[in-house]
Amino acid sequence: MQFFLDTGNVDEIKQALEWGILDGVTTNPTLIAKTGRSFMEVAKEIVKLVDGPVSLETVSLNAEGMIKEGRMLAELGDNVVVKIPMTPEGVKAIQVLESEGIPVNVTLIFSPAQALIAAKAGATFVSPFIGRLDDISGEGMKLIREVKTIFDNYDIDTQIIVASVRHPMHVVEAALIGADICTMPFEVMKKLFNHPLTDKGLEQFLKDWEKVPGRPF
Ligand code: E4P
Repeated sequence: MQFFLDTGNVDEIKQALEWGILDGVTTNPTLIAKTGRSFMEVAKEIVKLVDGPVSLETVSLNAEGMIKEGRMLAELGDNVVVKIPMTPEGVKAIQVLESEGIPVNVTLIFSPAQALIAAKAGATFVSPFIGRLDDISGEGMKLIREVKTIFDNYDIDTQIIVASVRHPMHVVEAALIGADICTMPFEVMKKLFNHPLTDKGLEQFLKDWEKVPGRPF
């Protein structure tokens, strides 16, 4: 499973790149607003930093506007993926952008039917939001299981980006289901490394190492 960071924060991206586990980045208007920086400045920086796909979102509500914005965003780099919301107008825009070779990530997906429509329109990626479903007492992971089954049933190439991730178990469950990608906040990625027994074990090893005669380092 590929790991994407869901962020507009360049320092977080640099850290994940240093770890060597970053495959791509997703952003949205909320995440960009949090940076307090100019959209074009942040977008250009992220697109340059990351080799993998970088999703940048359109904000128009009609297909014409989405297509115009999508084309503009695609000019920022070969790795740009245009993020389009799951609406009837969005579905029209997906087909035009994909036919021009511009990959689309369909965002704000909350049902298997929406994912199926996005795939039928030829989207490269779909982003089902699991955390926001859990927030309203839904079952986010059930959505991922259902989308995965449907895509497998019909050999659909559209890749599943598990989005709106809140904690490490979301990442683990997404991997167990076989989702293609998990996009996560930096705090979740950091937590994936942790286990108290690792810390405890390391502490003991270092303590015992001090007792070893003829240590070469
Ligand atoms: C997906 O690409 C979105 O940016 C994101 O995962 C939304 O997550 P949230 O529900 O934490 O805002």
